[in-house]
Amino acid sequence: CGETGPGRLLEPAELVAALLEPFCQQPLANKRIVITAGPTREPLDPVRYLSNRSSGKMGYALAQAAHDLGAEVILISGPVALDAPNGVTRQSVNTATEMLTAVLAEIKSCDVFIGVAAVADYQVATIARDKIKKQSGEPLQLTLTETPDILHQVGHLSEHRPFTVGFAAETTNLMAHARDKLARKKADLIVANLVSQTHGFDADDNAVCLV
Ligand code: C5P
Repeated sequence: CGETGPGRLLEPAELVAALLEPFCQQPLANKRIVITAGPTREPLDPVRYLSNRSSGKMGYALAQAAHDLGAEVILISGPVALDAPNGVTRQSVNTATEMLTAVLAEIKSCDVFIGVAAVADYQVATIARDKIKKQSGEPLQLTLTETPDILHQVGHLSEHRPFTVGFAAETTNLMAHARDKLARKKADLIVANLVSQTHGFDADDNAVCLV
């Protein structure tokens, strides 16, 4: 063929997936799905941030599954240690505000929005320009303000509103919180899961209720 250069066999899993693709049913063909995943990081100063225990596994698994079912998937991800699933376009962001901007840029042309990201609820009112120094014996006070609620904004869109799915990870009163979230955020579906030692964060298994 005239091409020369170093070559490398695809990973077997990628090869199998590519071979199977033409034979798989593609019920989500021609659908565009935007998925948020992972945590966000809200900086306090140049070296520190507020964040949470999200690994991104749930959002990335959903992105992979949606792609395998034929959808075009845009994955908007906070910082995680995972590779983007094959065939999925990933946009990397850090803060809740950056995640919102990335979501709004894609939302008008999408059919389904799935907000899986564990978006931080608070950010500091003012990010310190220099590293905050320890003042021995003094408690440190931070003033926090709410971050934008991405799911809430998508759910309340007056036009081009996609089918909107949110997640609820709770430690108590799972169903009551899920129903409340469904109404408050105007979502179409809430995926509720109880966070415990074995389920919820950074786990390969999960058990959920769909509300
Ligand atoms: O209100 P709470 O954070 O428990 O709701 C969780 C759901 O809302 C998840 O789907 C999460 O991705 C979404 N969310 C969001 N933006 C926020 C907070 C939560 O999109 N600032």
